[in-house]
Amino acid sequence: MPLIVAVPKESAPGERRVAMEPSVAKKLAGLGVEVWMEPGAGEEAGFDDSDFSDATFVSAEELYEQADVMLRVQAPSEEEIGRLREGAVLIGTLTPYRYPERVRALAERKITSFAMELIPRISRAQAMDVLSSQAAVAGYKAAIMGADLSIRFFPMLTTAAGTIRPSRVLVIGAGVAGLQAIATAKRLGAIVEAYDVRSATKEQVESLGAKFIELEISAEGEGGYARELTDEEKRKQQEELAGYIAKADCLITTAAVPGRPAPKIIPASTVEGMKRGAVIIDLAADGGGNCELSVPGETREHNGVVIHAPLNVPSQVPLHASEMYAKNLFNFLSPMLAEGALQPDWDDEVVAGALLTRDGEIVNEQVKQAVAGA
Ligand code: NAI
Repeated sequence: MPLIVAVPKESAPGERRVAMEPSVAKKLAGLGVEVWMEPGAGEEAGFDDSDFSDATFVSAEELYEQADVMLRVQAPSEEEIGRLREGAVLIGTLTPYRYPERVRALAERKITSFAMELIPRISRAQAMDVLSSQAAVAGYKAAIMGADLSIRFFPMLTTAAGTIRPSRVLVIGAGVAGLQAIATAKRLGAIVEAYDVRSATKEQVESLGAKFIELEISAEGEGGYARELTDEEKRKQQEELAGYIAKADCLITTAAVPGRPAPKIIPASTVEGMKRGAVIIDLAADGGGNCELSVPGETREHNGVVIHAPLNVPSQVPLHASEMYAKNLFNFLSPMLAEGALQPDWDDEVVAGALLTRDGEIVNEQVKQAVAGA
């Protein structure tokens, strides 16, 4: 009996992505596995069932019962976990810290689960990196949202009715999302400035034609990430940034520190110093937001400044986000397949890094502690 790789319709509210795309289904079929999908699974991402000529469509009931490996965008609910058979494998962005009860349910159900976002960010794993692929989508969309909510044009326009000056866009946090936001805002014709606590980003920002803002503080952390700032550093950063923010027509914030809530970089006083009609796109809303006034999932106005704090932005560009995500999954799954069967090398650092639960245990030590304390 060939291995069944199953792809259900996502059940999280507002989730439009799907964990499969036609070329990945074809490649998996070529490796001797059967791809089963729930009817309409790709509909909201823009895929018709008929686009998946290499997949078999079965009812959700059968899909959950028979899946050897289930691919998901978001973690299944506890009820869905209960429908999977014991010993099945689950791969997705499982956000274990947000859903400790689901992690417990996965262990109890003896599901072998892999959380894609826990894959170590080493060179070999770049093609599996869902954090990067989805952040790139979000960064692109953030610039579009900024342009959409702005009362101004982004580009310079020379018309018979006069010349219009380009908008000033400031991007805070120049990681994967920030760099894509910079590139998109530049393409839309804005004057772009960017800031990050990691000085290594200066060259990347400048290579996109944006100006890098240099402040006195630096917060180089481990593994190429930022560390959390001390209170004194935070105060200094806010003070220095306020002057730049006051001049911006659109502020896009993407700052994150792994394993911590998003740093609050923009206090209310800084927002109050902004121009009327300026826009803040707080891309860190999933982690609580970078702006003190952000309400995750909402758009509000404060002193004439629009503060937009969207959640799950990659789902708003669902077709390309799904394509990239499905390719990330394939690059993680395919090395584990041998002669149509799943044979993970448990000692491999990528496999071990992503492993969340196995044989009834929560394997990831940090997650285990977090779940025990939840
Ligand atoms: P992230 O989503 O964790 O953070 C976004 C950005 O916010 C980062 O650039 C961070 O330095 C910045 N930030 C944090 N606190 C800040 C503060 N208080 N003020 C201003 N900015 C602040 O980061 P992301 O985008 O996931 O990646 C971070 C790094 O990891 C980058 O250097 C990236 O190139 C690297 N990376 C490496 C990969 C690999 O080698 N496989 C794959 C993907 C990323």
